[in-house]
Amino acid sequence: MSEIVIDKVSKIFGEGSAKPFVAIEGVELRVADREFISVVGPSGCGKTTLMRMVAGLESVSRGEIRVAGKPVTGPGPDRAVVFQQFALFPWKTVRENIVFGMRSRGATKHERDEAVAYYLHLMKMEGTADKYPHQLSGGMQQRVAIARSYATDPGVLLMDEPFGALDAQTRTIMQEELVRVSKGNPRTVMFITHSVEEAVYLADRVVVMGRNPGHIREVIDVASTRQAERWSEEPIDDVMEKPSFTHLRGQVWRLLREQMGADV
Ligand SMILES: Nc1ncnc2c1ncn2[C@@H]1O[C@H](COP(=O)(O)OP(=O)(O)O)[C@@H](O)[C@H]1O
Ligand SMILES: [Mg+2]
Repeated sequence: MSEIVIDKVSKIFGEGSAKPFVAIEGVELRVADREFISVVGPSGCGKTTLMRMVAGLESVSRGEIRVAGKPVTGPGPDRAVVFQQFALFPWKTVRENIVFGMRSRGATKHERDEAVAYYLHLMKMEGTADKYPHQLSGGMQQRVAIARSYATDPGVLLMDEPFGALDAQTRTIMQEELVRVSKGNPRTVMFITHSVEEAVYLADRVVVMGRNPGHIREVIDVASTRQAERWSEEPIDDVMEKPSFTHLRGQVWRLLREQMGADV
């Protein structure tokens, strides 16, 4: 069970200095085991900081974060992180990149071969196992990064605008693929994005953050609608035309616009 509990967490940069900066204040959030939440909010509201604290890459100033009941004190193999920049090892092949985390976990060669075949098939990238990252497009590299994070088999997946650098068409394909991969391999996911459509399309719940200092403004449930209407079985374009989708998107947009004030 990989529940994430963010318990009254604040982050103060430069605490004790002449100019402390409160980036996040009093955030409380519980992400259930195998739940997919997306996080949206104006630039600078602390989305990345919050995720880095869950990843254990940044300390918390107040409160506590627990994953599977254990307080987070640093990074661990139970939490995989995917950033916007394609973080592949350039000197390793696609196959070696995918199995990197599995090796340190002690997976057998047979298990590793199976995982490579499974993910390359799922990502529609058969025949690329022996290529190097520079021989692939940006979209393909990001698919390998996502395959690697899933193959490592973490309970928790943390993604910070993973599709931010992709063109619109590749991004759509990636969104559909992520839904497909997530369905076959449910994980507890925290997914940060700038795109309201992406947030609503992917998530069970959308967390809308506000700033000055960073806080949770509202949490919107999508899972009940997604399940009732079987969104995961339909192409993204069809889902986005549904009245229920438009309604949820409008709800998130209004909240965001309030947060951004004059910036929009
Ligand atoms: N290491 C740091 N030191 C000082 N301030 C930081 C640091 N990292 C982030 N911040 C500040 O914290 C706030 C939140 O940043 P960030 O989490 O990157 O926001 P977001 O991802 O929502 O755009 C911003 O005002 C940013 O300038
Ligand atoms: Mg950020």
